[in-house]
Amino acid sequence: MATVRSIAVTNQKGGVGKTTTVANLGAALAQRGLYVCLVDLDPQAHLTLHFGIDPTALNATTYDVLTADVPLSRAAILVENHLTVIPSVIDLAAAEVEMAGTVGREQILRDRIAAETFPYDLLMIDCPPSLGLLTLNALAAAEEVIIPLQPHFLALQGLGKLLETVSLVQRRINAGLKISGVVFCMHEGATRLAAEVVEDVTRFFSSSRGAGRPWSEARIYRTRIRRNIKLAECPSHGTTIGHYDPFSLGAADYSALAEEFMAACEGRPAGEHEPARPQAQPAPEAVQPAPAEAASAPDQPQPAQEQDEASATAANPAALPPEAAP
Ligand SMILES: Nc1ncnc2c1ncn2[C@@H]1O[C@H](COP(=O)(O)OP(=O)(O)OP(=O)(O)O)[C@@H](O)[C@H]1O
Ligand SMILES: [Mg+2]
Repeated sequence: MATVRSIAVTNQKGGVGKTTTVANLGAALAQRGLYVCLVDLDPQAHLTLHFGIDPTALNATTYDVLTADVPLSRAAILVENHLTVIPSVIDLAAAEVEMAGTVGREQILRDRIAAETFPYDLLMIDCPPSLGLLTLNALAAAEEVIIPLQPHFLALQGLGKLLETVSLVQRRINAGLKISGVVFCMHEGATRLAAEVVEDVTRFFSSSRGAGRPWSEARIYRTRIRRNIKLAECPSHGTTIGHYDPFSLGAADYSALAEEFMAACEGRPAGEHEPARPQAQPAPEAVQPAPAEAASAPDQPQPAQEQDEASATAANPAALPPEAAP
């Protein structure tokens, strides 16, 4: 297995901030000196579009990597200093069908990663909003899982299923897999509901400490990614928040998340194995991707990230995975 640290960013719930987190956390880490490679494993190709890459004008994508034995490095595109993207394309939706009859179909990405020596410190995989074969490939290939969660009522639905899937993959395919973190995205600090959900999720993960589950050591990141319209705008400019609006709340939050992430990596500092500079294709002519879905809340400062816990009541405890799951 290649030595590059690999993280699957996943949640089968759609629109919770997976792609935004992969793009902007990845870029913030790259700005801090890490060599980062972002893998777009979603047929929607939102991560690819986020960087202004036209998915229809590429020689190689994750589709070719999974279905045609193409090395990941052949699809690599250097998008920013220290930051590389392995793009996706809509055809990737067909890859699930094409891979279905292949023996070891859940482990194709893992084999592709193992087959190469990567000049990166970190590989982050942006997963589609499902628990299908593409996500299974990400879970089989990764050492860690980061779960972005949007703290509202429905966000907790499905968390049990996700944990069950991670547990199954850990038992059968990838013994070292663990959930390393939960990041709250589109957090609205002024709402009681956000505080309730954060409290419920924190309580759940705390209760599993030392229980030997893949999520027993999961960190609930203290940095909350606040709802910020600039984060929704920057994909339509083909860049990340640090370049689009470095003084925005979104830039501040992803910067803080990167700092917290790096502080949590004691023993695995940036540049630990002095990787060589990535040999990637230059980015193709930037396209004008479809405008990003507008965020519903205005760009406004958030008073405090922590809520008055005394005012919190259980948001939806029934939606949380049971203590014994799975
Ligand atoms: N903190 C934020 N503030 C405002 N808008 C945001 C924020 N995070 C993400 N968005 C916007 O919300 C939408 C969904 O975010 P994103 O694409 O990152 O979610 P996702 O989980 O990757 O979705 P999918 O499941 O479809 O892949 C996008 O339009 C994005 O620009
Ligand atoms: Mg996405």
